[in-house]
Amino acid sequence: MTSPPIKVLFVCLGNICRSPTAEGLFRALVAEEGLAEHITTDSAGTGSWHIGSPPDPRAQETALKRGYDISDLRGRQTRSQDFDDFDYILVMDRSNYRTMEALKRGAAQRATLEMFLDYVSEDQRAPTRGEVPDPYYGGLEDYEFAIGLIEGAAQGLLDHIKRTHLRPPAM
Ligand code: 4NP
Repeated sequence: MTSPPIKVLFVCLGNICRSPTAEGLFRALVAEEGLAEHITTDSAGTGSWHIGSPPDPRAQETALKRGYDISDLRGRQTRSQDFDDFDYILVMDRSNYRTMEALKRGAAQRATLEMFLDYVSEDQRAPTRGEVPDPYYGGLEDYEFAIGLIEGAAQGLLDHIKRTHLRPPAM
């Protein structure tokens, strides 16, 4: 496996709750499987309010409770260039999707733009209509709910990337 790494970008609105949580969980799964050389991760927000900020303390606490330290992550804003730089752009909700579609114009469009929850089963996706709900104006229970969805989708995405891009060479 000497090909360039598969580059994955997680996107939400603020880049302090859902997308850094997704990045932190996904990079931990990647590291656990010894695939850090082959899959790189990043996250960004469509809004500019939290550029340079660490994840929301509630997001950090919820992730840490499950064993994921996301304190090193810092917010940045999405840009058109992301469509040239990444292979996968995973958005948390339809509003993010629309904003990213508008940003895509003019970019070379290497990236596939998808709803992150497309990587969980229909049963898990249905209650929130395929979106990871924004916990920012909620309580810790909303962060717990979001991270549960994110955990399932992170595993589903990793399984997909392994199947699609990282097959071992035939003997
Ligand atoms: P996120 O949550 O998109 O999951 O990071 C939000 C964080 C901050 C804001 C909105 C959503 N905000 O309006 O500041």
